[in-house]
Amino acid sequence: MELVYVAFGSNVGDRKAHVEASLDCLRNTPGISVLRVSGMIETDFVGAGPEQERFLNGVVELKTSLTPMALLCVLQALEAAAGRKFPHETNQPRELDLDIILFGSRTIDTRELVVPHPRYHEREFVAGPMRELGVDVDVWVPKSSPLVIDSVEMLTAKVAEWLAGDCLVGLVPTMGSLHEGHKSLMRAAREQCDRVLVTVFVNPLQFGPTEDFSAYPRDLAADTALCRDAGVDVLFAPALGQMFDEQFSSYVAVGSEAEGMEGSVRAGHFQGVATVVARLFAMARPHRAYFGEKDAQQIAVVRRMASDLGFPVRVEPCAIVRESDGLALSSRNVYLSKNDRQASTVLYRALCSAREQFRRGTRDRDQLLGRVRAVLATEPRCRPDYVELRREGDFSELPPGNVVGGRLLVAAKFVDGDRPVRLLDNVSLAKGEAQ
Ligand code: PAJ
Repeated sequence: MELVYVAFGSNVGDRKAHVEASLDCLRNTPGISVLRVSGMIETDFVGAGPEQERFLNGVVELKTSLTPMALLCVLQALEAAAGRKFPHETNQPRELDLDIILFGSRTIDTRELVVPHPRYHEREFVAGPMRELGVDVDVWVPKSSPLVIDSVEMLTAKVAEWLAGDCLVGLVPTMGSLHEGHKSLMRAAREQCDRVLVTVFVNPLQFGPTEDFSAYPRDLAADTALCRDAGVDVLFAPALGQMFDEQFSSYVAVGSEAEGMEGSVRAGHFQGVATVVARLFAMARPHRAYFGEKDAQQIAVVRRMASDLGFPVRVEPCAIVRESDGLALSSRNVYLSKNDRQASTVLYRALCSAREQFRRGTRDRDQLLGRVRAVLATEPRCRPDYVELRREGDFSELPPGNVVGGRLLVAAKFVDGDRPVRLLDNVSLAKGEAQ
């Protein structure tokens, strides 16, 4: 028999009658003995959602021989008997809510059930009645939110638990120094998946010898706070040795998607990206992985790698998040001098100008590339590395006379600050853009 605490709440109809009927049913359920019930308290609704009536809340202490899932089924049947519709939306008024808070000393993390109930200790309408029943609430405080993990062993154990619990797992790989661009990936993952895993790892394999690996900005405390805000479940921030030990010597060779553009300017870059992402896919076994279109060529490389190596993951592209003046957010923007920061808006302006020409009917590659180059040339601070037009998806060349379905890409350096800053940007010339 396990000692279990179940929180109850009701704010629709005859609240007391709903609660009491469910407690009576629990008393009569084989395998359950109700030991004690806390006093009932009236509380305001907390959280986002429509204005709603006050709740009647409390906690029931019981012993049970049922498994956690069997007890969950009993509680859901009682919620339904009180009139609650399934599946229910969050933050809506409810006839009856029955949540397992503690189940013996177990920790459970499946799609259906998380125990100890996350954040219960922050909710006075649960913590108060628990204290009344003599439970030391703080003993059960869940670890940090998100759970920060730095070892591969802990990560694989956590993922195994999620997968066994039938969770859809979303992965957001990053190098940290997180901003709203990264956060948009996390939000998409949060909406579409049961569990969200963010990785923060500045991957040495993707930096060239003269690049900014050691100077790449790092701030794990700020990254953790941003992940908390985005509702991330686990933040994996391994040290170098966890990802690549001293004997590490296997690399992913990349194909035609990696040719040209970033692949030419940064030799070995995409091999490093593909290798670390393959390693993350192998460890985290995600169903979906979220990547930003800001690094459009990276998406093409990762898609090809995942398909060729047989990772059962869906690569989800996410739109570029920009500053209000159009500059694409990037961890490197902080290194721009004030003047270069102003000048950097030229990248998006140049792309938009060409896209506007495309919208008006121009289909010729060289005309569109010429337009981008001409606008970039109006800003002497901007030193373009390349201006390119490639087919969306596989990044192959397009017929020069018809660029529908392409993507216009630029990379440029700004050298005024303490160190040169290289920025990327791109826009789509998708069919929908053609008018
Ligand atoms: P990083 O530069 O940290 O970017 C992590 C993810 O955030 C990438 O998919 C990137 O495209 C996305 N991202 C960055 N800025 C964005 C913006 N303004 N709008 C939308 N998405 C944005 O890309 C990497 O790290 C690494 O190469 C990595 C994939 C983690 C492998 O090491």
